[in-house]
Amino acid sequence: MSETENNIVAGTVAGKSNASLQVRHLHIDFSKGFPRHWLGNDAFRSQLFNAQSFSFPLGEQYFIDSVRAALPLLSDEKLKADVKGFIAQESTHRHIHEQYNLQLNAQGLSYFIEPFVAWRIRTAAGLNVKNNLAITMAYEHFTAIFADGVLSEAKWVEDAVEPMKRLWTWHSIEETEHKSVVFDVYQALGGGYWRRVAWLLYVTILFSFDTAVQTAHCLYRDGELFKAKTLWQGLKFYFGRRGLLWFSLPQYLAYFKPGFQPWERDNLHLTKDWLTTNADIYKNVGVTTPAAGKP
Ligand SMILES: [Fe+2]
Ligand SMILES: [Fe+2]
Repeated sequence: MSETENNIVAGTVAGKSNASLQVRHLHIDFSKGFPRHWLGNDAFRSQLFNAQSFSFPLGEQYFIDSVRAALPLLSDEKLKADVKGFIAQESTHRHIHEQYNLQLNAQGLSYFIEPFVAWRIRTAAGLNVKNNLAITMAYEHFTAIFADGVLSEAKWVEDAVEPMKRLWTWHSIEETEHKSVVFDVYQALGGGYWRRVAWLLYVTILFSFDTAVQTAHCLYRDGELFKAKTLWQGLKFYFGRRGLLWFSLPQYLAYFKPGFQPWERDNLHLTKDWLTTNADIYKNVGVTTPAAGKP
């Protein structure tokens, strides 16, 4: 079996097969930095993506803590292995985005809403396991939609410079791979429909608010906030032909179906395509497998 084929086999299909989540080392070098408008020379899109990056180290740690708390309650070995793979992948993402964010700091940008987000996470510590899983699952739904757009919509990141293009597409394939893990854990613990959708509505409000405020702050620091050109870039990206809003809305709404399952949108081929095309920019470093012989 060739290395590429092996990568595909090892690539995760969490909740879809017996394969397990692969952890990868991405070859990435931030030492030369990157331009402020690294995404198609477009201030709006660059700062929108930067705003997401600022949120990852804190946010993904919260996701990790949420599923880790559920781990002792699980009996299915495959699911436990998926949770460990999820934790390993998100840990890698946090680490890379911390390096990315240091570059943003050097460009004069900062995580303006950090105290508010940190306070919310501290408050969430008082919630039970199912509620924290439902919140995490809602964020993972947003992440999975965003990742799908990054991988399938040419206008989103095709005009990004390196190393940003590899970073965002790599993060996106792994988000796709593990998109059902938190959902599966929630189901295994008997989580219900109303809790799931109620927390999605809560997360929708916060995610929209956080994204708007943090993107505006980045654009302000960048000196691009009060420009007609920036407004036009934003309108085009959200509401233009094949824009973010039209792309995301059907996937977002699917979550409200009682029988929703993340893999009902089967986009694993996007991951496989990336792994094949980019075999030279990452290395498989470990895989979490279910314990042999366990039921
Ligand atoms: Fe992630
Ligand atoms: Fe994730």
